[in-house]
Amino acid sequence: MSVPFRYRKLGYAALSVTNLERSLHFYRDLLGLELVEQRDDVAYLRCSRDHHNIALHAGQTAGLKRVGWELESQADVERAIAHFEGLGLAPRRVDKAESQALRQGPGFRVRLPGAGLEFDYYGSTTVMARPWTPTVARIARLGHVVIGCADFAAAQGALLRDFGFVQSDFVEDRFSFMRCFPNPFHHTFAVGASAGNHLHHVNFMVTDIDDVGRAWHRMTKAGVKIAFGIGRHPPSGSVFLYFYDPDGMTVEYSYGMEEFPEVGAREPRMLEPVPESLDTWGAVPDVNFGKVGAIEAA
Ligand SMILES: [Fe+2]
Repeated sequence: MSVPFRYRKLGYAALSVTNLERSLHFYRDLLGLELVEQRDDVAYLRCSRDHHNIALHAGQTAGLKRVGWELESQADVERAIAHFEGLGLAPRRVDKAESQALRQGPGFRVRLPGAGLEFDYYGSTTVMARPWTPTVARIARLGHVVIGCADFAAAQGALLRDFGFVQSDFVEDRFSFMRCFPNPFHHTFAVGASAGNHLHHVNFMVTDIDDVGRAWHRMTKAGVKIAFGIGRHPPSGSVFLYFYDPDGMTVEYSYGMEEFPEVGAREPRMLEPVPESLDTWGAVPDVNFGKVGAIEAA
């Protein structure tokens, strides 16, 4: 750990969707997020006290637009921008109008080498007056975002060396589960080797295993195609269900995840590159699992 800033949490994922109304129905009514506001072809939804944890942008093609990271303080944001400037990664400050539109404090954006994904860093976000009230699923939080990228070594190296992530488990040369230090969860971000840069999936952690089981029936009844599961991930011990959003992007519910202490955490484990490293219950992923949704380039 050598970066001069500390993460609070994964803040939000911004997705481009080809039919905003159709996706709103999915993310609000079937997944269980709350629509906070909708303006300028962007719908802001939440599953926490934050103003938003998912931003749906009406677009021509479906994909992952950006990932937002909340740092512990505004001082962390200032140290982080100087750090990325020093590395020659050309961070750019977000102008005031856009920060206000996102209901966030001042921040900056920088792209992840090897994957091209834009990260949005900020130190504070609007805390909604009304608490988050679960509807169809007791969502605890936006859990993690996973991407596939063409240059795995570059992305993994940058994340661990320059972006302050810590590896929790990995498959050599092809997959890495990372936590945004000192956030305790086994992974808030993960990256895998792929032919191109794309979204793999967006995860929501639920507070009860029933939420995963109920989702299987709710999604199936609504005609939503299951992508993978129900199963249990050996690396994190979580029970999972993956399904497709209306554009075919993969979304996950998971229950349970290992947490790491800030000091004295166990070493990352090197996992065997076999299907059993993904699931212990015998589930077989659909062919399009984790494949749809390009990472929006500069
Ligand atoms: Fe996941």
